[in-house]
Amino acid sequence: MKILVTGGAGFIGSAVVRRAIADGHAVVNLDALTYAACLDNVASVAEAPGYAFEHADIRDRVALDRVFARHQPDAVMHLAAETHVDRSIDGPGAFVETNVNGTFHLLEAARAHWQSRGRPEGFRFHHVSTDEVFGSLGATGHFTEDTPYDPRSPYSASKAASDHLVRAWGATYGLPVVVSNCSNNYGPYHFPEKLIPVVILNALAGRPIPVYGDGSNVRDWLYVEDHAEALLTVLQRGAVGRSYAIGGGNERSNLDLVRTICAILDDRRPRTAGPHADLITFVSDRPGHDARYAIDATRIRDDLGWRPSVTLDQGLARTVDWYLDNAKWWQALLDRDGVGRRLGAGA
Ligand code: NAD
Ligand code: DAU
Repeated sequence: MKILVTGGAGFIGSAVVRRAIADGHAVVNLDALTYAACLDNVASVAEAPGYAFEHADIRDRVALDRVFARHQPDAVMHLAAETHVDRSIDGPGAFVETNVNGTFHLLEAARAHWQSRGRPEGFRFHHVSTDEVFGSLGATGHFTEDTPYDPRSPYSASKAASDHLVRAWGATYGLPVVVSNCSNNYGPYHFPEKLIPVVILNALAGRPIPVYGDGSNVRDWLYVEDHAEALLTVLQRGAVGRSYAIGGGNERSNLDLVRTICAILDDRRPRTAGPHADLITFVSDRPGHDARYAIDATRIRDDLGWRPSVTLDQGLARTVDWYLDNAKWWQALLDRDGVGRRLGAGA
């Protein structure tokens, strides 16, 4: 297949690009190169014969039409988005513009392309979304594909809106769409504004490790390369019009997770001043902080045969080792806007 991947210079998009090229697909990586992008993430495939890069913005319909006309993709995997909840609290406008309006323009460009090719049944528009559209769980229960939408942050509201647009384009125009809603990813190339890289880099620098509130919020963690495999599975075998909840079955409170990372670092890089966990510092909570996310991934497991390959403990050890071995990658990102600062505190 020739796959147009949007957001392929970001964290998950780049894992999808690397995996798709390894699987023998051709890939057009369309990315606006925002603060969150890094072309080093795809350096390993940049010279592959099936790879092309297009510097374009999904809010720019003219640019999108040009990319579709030039490359004639068989499928779209839409990952381009503003993705950081804390930034959405400080500046929600960019989230509405890219996640809502940008998705609208991409849907229209994809529809025009699909119609111009005679509406091929095999065409796919795969919208990559998040479990955050379902809101916040209490101590029990799991999100499924049938959980009612209840987004609570500007980020999750903008993603929920984009999910609705994608489904509407499927129902109204017959565009062959598929949606996936995934839990928290982690792994190599995770931008240093999200919890796990913040913990690793602050611990290595001997700086306070910020834990929001009391650290009791629970996330369900999935290794990014397992997510990339799940996404390619959904693209190729998912049923048109369906959605798939994707998760690792790895629930952990933030405080437990941070302590686990600190223990791995104590093993790899012991600190003379004391255990890394001594750096844990409780800071003011995120406004509207969702208490718990947990995914019931029965559908993708039973219908499509996907399951994660890595446990959380294995994946965290791999991730810490990757950051230790790839200091050049993250050091180049430390002066990007907002990195190293508390974001989203002052709603
Ligand atoms: P990221 O922030 O690391 O990367 C986003 C990429 O999109 C960047 O390369 C950026 O340059 C690009 N981009 C942003 N605005 C754009 C625009 N207007 N036009 C073109 N490109 C633009 O994001 P990520 O964490 O890799 O997430 C990718 C997708 O997966 C998002 O849609 C996100 O909502 C979804 N998702 C993320 C997670 C997670 O844990 N990170 C979990 C579930 C779903
Ligand atoms: O669930 C999927 C979502 O996971 C994706 O859709 C988002 O794009 C992605 O950013 C992620 O959202 P979270 O808000 O869960 O991730 P984040 O890494 O920002 O925070 C994880 C948890 O850790 C959350 O409960 C807030 C907390 N946290 C975060 C940071 C950055 C801290 O305690 N300290 C921190 O410094």
